[in-house]
Amino acid sequence: MNNITIAIDGYSSTGKSTISKQLAKALGYIYVDTGAMYRAVTLFAMQNDVLADTQNLIGLLPEIELKFVYNDDLGYAEMYLNGKNVEKEIRSLEVSRQVSKVAAIKAVRKKLVDLQQAMGKEKGIVMDGRDIGTVVFPDAELKIFMTASPETRAARRYKELLDKGEKVLYADVLKNVQERDYIDSHREVSPLRKAKDAIEFDNSDMGLKEQLERIHNYALRII
Ligand code: C5P
Repeated sequence: MNNITIAIDGYSSTGKSTISKQLAKALGYIYVDTGAMYRAVTLFAMQNDVLADTQNLIGLLPEIELKFVYNDDLGYAEMYLNGKNVEKEIRSLEVSRQVSKVAAIKAVRKKLVDLQQAMGKEKGIVMDGRDIGTVVFPDAELKIFMTASPETRAARRYKELLDKGEKVLYADVLKNVQERDYIDSHREVSPLRKAKDAIEFDNSDMGLKEQLERIHNYALRII
């Protein structure tokens, strides 16, 4: 069996991370959630009061240490920011509201793309994000571009946040999903785009099991 690189990109809340996690498990691959990295940098900017001060945030970038630490009980890796587990904080709606602005900063992207390329050097990896198939691993053997209607995606994210005990309104979640799509697709650096050789995958009317089966089959055909 060959070790390959699998890039899963797409719009916010298309279920990329759930599928990527399960796919990585099925293949015995490493899974990297690049959104968690942008979220952690955003949390750092909020904690250090430099969200609105791009130059200062850029100056502080060398002080940001990001690490994924595998949690055996959960069966996946959690994000650590400067030694602290920030998995819960980075998923909040507050961070979601700010993250696309931080992710549009060139120096932030450079730092994180370098880290991502180092993590995927050995292949055998499933990485999800917005620019994996276009920028991080343009030579990935399998590229998937996930889409679903904004309403379907907002409903999924809304349920996820409620399940975690966050008090949010569906309308706010929908607005956030649409705003992030807009900023992510219109930014100057690495805008969200389907790579030419990516498979477009609309999962609006598809359950998890079917999605996993289909994508797993795509991978097995190459491996
Ligand atoms: O995947 P997730 O929704 O957690 O990503 C949060 C945000 O991080 C996205 O809305 C986008 O602004 C940014 N992001 C990015 N490039 C990636 C992954 C995430 O710009 N590769």
